[in-house]
Amino acid sequence: MGKSVRKAVIPAAGLGTRFLPATKAMPKEMLPVVDAPAIQYVVEEAVSAGLDDVLMITGRSKRALEDHFDSAPALERTLELKGDQARLDSVQHASGLGPIHYVRQGEPKGLGHAVLCGRQHVGDEPFAVLLGDDLIDERDELLTAMIDVQAKTGGSVIALIEVEPAQISAYGCADILAVEGEDYVRVNSLVEKPSVDEAPSNLAVIGRYVLHPAVFDVLEKTEPGRGGEIQLTDALQTLAAGEGEGSGVYGVVFRGRRYDTGDKLSYLKAVITLASERPEFGEDLKAWMKDFNG
Ligand code: UTP
Repeated sequence: MGKSVRKAVIPAAGLGTRFLPATKAMPKEMLPVVDAPAIQYVVEEAVSAGLDDVLMITGRSKRALEDHFDSAPALERTLELKGDQARLDSVQHASGLGPIHYVRQGEPKGLGHAVLCGRQHVGDEPFAVLLGDDLIDERDELLTAMIDVQAKTGGSVIALIEVEPAQISAYGCADILAVEGEDYVRVNSLVEKPSVDEAPSNLAVIGRYVLHPAVFDVLEKTEPGRGGEIQLTDALQTLAAGEGEGSGVYGVVFRGRRYDTGDKLSYLKAVITLASERPEFGEDLKAWMKDFNG
């Protein structure tokens, strides 16, 4: 029986160049999705999957992240005096999500390097990695399914979605093999952003991982790859091809609701989708959109 997954690593030290200039002085993980920063949805997801130890990898402008998950005594007092309980609850919710730890990635040397910065905190146990670019609807469980597969296989687990073949070159792509009698797949290899002709499947990698700690030794030895960055995909490729303790990569194909917030257009679509479901103004927004023709 393997160790159970308790820890979540949330990398938030990237430069967010696709969102400039909004991300000049603020991490992209702090961009609001309706009325909460994207990272709050991600921490909520980790907590509801039972992960009670959250480590955030931060970089420049980490202040906003830390402040968001901390208490805000002056603001809370003001809301209390006004009797504004709803807003007070919304403010206290973020700091009540549990203790969050922070480690700084001195330089944004890539997602693989960001994960490696969590090594000391994580230690020798399997752990989850959640990226703020992908929001998974709270009604559709993904992490718990991935944690189960990690416990069953003893390897590392990635999340996959089926995309239109023409879209695959925007993602990492997995070459997979079905596992008889199981609802997860075995990952033979991973190709980063393949052309449509080269793609081994239409299964794209999204931002949820449950990793065996063997990934740390592999990351230590992983040379900078695409874009001069230490890529998590390259380390996973090594684990997929390896044998022995901690090797083997498996995939869970996610068919639920996912909101991509990684680039400007997807982000706007995600915000509109989630806003249109809000009871306070969803119907008004949809009525307005119907009439809106630019
Ligand atoms: P992305 O490649 O999507 O983020 O990395 P980015 O580099 O910030 O964005 P662009 O491409 O320049 O617009 C995926 C996740 O990994 C984190 C990012 O913060 C994001 O959550 N990351 C990336 C790090 O923490 N450190 C890095 O060195 C790179």
